[in-house]
Amino acid sequence: NTTPPGQWGLRFRGPTNDSLTESEPHSWAVDMDLSAVIHRVEPRFLSVTIDASLASEEKFMSLLRSSKLRFLAKALSPAFLRFGGTSQDFMVFTHQTSNQLEIFKYFSPSDHVSCDQLELPEWLERRLKRALSKQQMILMKEDVRRKYRRVKFTEYTVDVLHAFANCSGLDLIFGLNALLRNSDNTWNGSNARSLLRYCESRRYHMSWELGNEPNSYKKKAGLRVDGFQLGRDFTKLREMMSQSEFYHNSQLYGPDVGQPRDHRVDILQGFLRSGADAVDACTWHHYYVNGRDTSLQDFIDPEILDTLAVKTKEVLQKVKKASPGKSVWLGETSSAYGGGAPGLSDTFVAGFIYHLVDNNLDPLPDYWLSLLYKRLVGPEVLNISAWSASGQRVRLYLHCSNTNSYRNGAVTLMSLNLSRKTARISVPTLVSSSTVDAFVLQSDRPGEEGLYSRSVTLNGVVLKMVDDQTLPDLTGSGLPPADHLQLPAFSLAFFVFKDAQATACLDQVTLR
Ligand SMILES: *[C@@H]1O[C@H](CO)[C@@H](O)[C@H](O)[C@H]1NC(C)=O
Ligand SMILES: *[C@@H]1O[C@H](CO)[C@@H](O)[C@H](O)[C@H]1NC(C)=O
Ligand SMILES: *[C@@H]1O[C@H](CO)[C@@H](O)[C@H](O)[C@H]1NC(C)=O
Ligand SMILES: *[C@@H]1O[C@H](CO)[C@@H](O)[C@H](O)[C@H]1NC(C)=O
Repeated sequence: NTTPPGQWGLRFRGPTNDSLTESEPHSWAVDMDLSAVIHRVEPRFLSVTIDASLASEEKFMSLLRSSKLRFLAKALSPAFLRFGGTSQDFMVFTHQTSNQLEIFKYFSPSDHVSCDQLELPEWLERRLKRALSKQQMILMKEDVRRKYRRVKFTEYTVDVLHAFANCSGLDLIFGLNALLRNSDNTWNGSNARSLLRYCESRRYHMSWELGNEPNSYKKKAGLRVDGFQLGRDFTKLREMMSQSEFYHNSQLYGPDVGQPRDHRVDILQGFLRSGADAVDACTWHHYYVNGRDTSLQDFIDPEILDTLAVKTKEVLQKVKKASPGKSVWLGETSSAYGGGAPGLSDTFVAGFIYHLVDNNLDPLPDYWLSLLYKRLVGPEVLNISAWSASGQRVRLYLHCSNTNSYRNGAVTLMSLNLSRKTARISVPTLVSSSTVDAFVLQSDRPGEEGLYSRSVTLNGVVLKMVDDQTLPDLTGSGLPPADHLQLPAFSLAFFVFKDAQATACLDQVTLR
């Protein structure tokens, strides 16, 4: 089961009273239980999506040939690479009749079978990136008008996508179109069948989804599909997969429904009645805010950050009731829906809630955060409780450290300081005798204005790729044992207690 990191381990007691004055430091007392793992997240918990709109013109798929992008993706392995989003329900697989794609002026169709042949000349990369920025404006308009064009894609999209995932060590999940429907509103699987056949012929290891946010089909396509019917459609797809020699053991995930409210609850429940057995995990999506109607304050508002925990609990309860034991996955999430919030989703403040690379394929603050998460944090969640009189603006999560980077027994404390007020965290004696590697991420500019920055510093040094194949130095700064920690304002930090000797983390079965 995949649940947000620390969700089970995090409990705040407070605010208890507000009699403290601004000038008095607020203290946080912290309890850590190092004796037991209270939850385990999938090692691939932090995973990524490529929005299916990249295939809106097939030439853009060639960007996945970029060795820089592949290098950045590889650093996040193990992870899933999901290809999906609103556009997936408007995409139709068509066989390439000849090598008619413009891109084949530069590549022959069979050029990307091995990882070293997956290349993109620099001039072409530049040209594609420029064209992509224009394309994104067009797509944004489509999204505002809720009028989507049907998009044809060919073997080229699948080939490049698979090669990109495979060569980066990511596990591909392909989102199929659920809006291809017969007159009786049942799903027409004939296009999916022909895609599966092609992928099978190429022996592409991958898993599948069907449909994206079916709760908004009415708005997107003027068509309603209820949960029970959708569950039957998944059952049909599962049958199709069972008949395939290659995909009969492959995974299927769904229904990728939006976070529960109003009729979405009915979709989820209806789906579970007829489709729970067809899926390996029940997926849902979470967004914190609407990209067109949000503000900086929303991105650092503890109540808005808490909506993830509230909604997760709700979904877990619904699934547990309808289909006990079924895994629940957060299939897609980001800060703002509707393509993100310009000037926020791609800045430092989104590190509190996510977005990975910019149009130039350069890492955004959230990429660096994800990378450090992968390196420092193991899948085992430990119990941490923190309380203070100052409310919820400091958040703490505790995991065993990633054993690829640290000795067994080490623990990693993750923290967010959403505050400008003074506070300090008292560390329990159990770990206060340990030396600490600190990784403190801050904007390159101070104060609230810095939250809008697209640059991030690690322990005071701006993070930038050295070149397309070299990451900057990402070592922590060593701190001597101490009984309290200080987190700068608006910072995200990882503290690795190297000699904590946490019994829960001493005998880790390596899951990777
Ligand atoms: C998949 O990856 C393996 C090992 O990295 C490589 O040998 C193989 O050629 C790749 N296959 C494709 C289709 O890219
Ligand atoms: C499903 O779609 C295919 C291709 O568009 C079409 O040929 C076929 O008749 C459809 N099946 C049904 C049952 O309508
Ligand atoms: C975590 O610790 C608190 C006390 O510090 C305890 O009340 C709570 O039940 C524990 N949670 C789990 C899941 O063990
Ligand atoms: C959060 O940032 C503020 C502002 O720099 C600082 O005074 C406070 O001590 C920090 N909180 C913690 C828990 O370190």
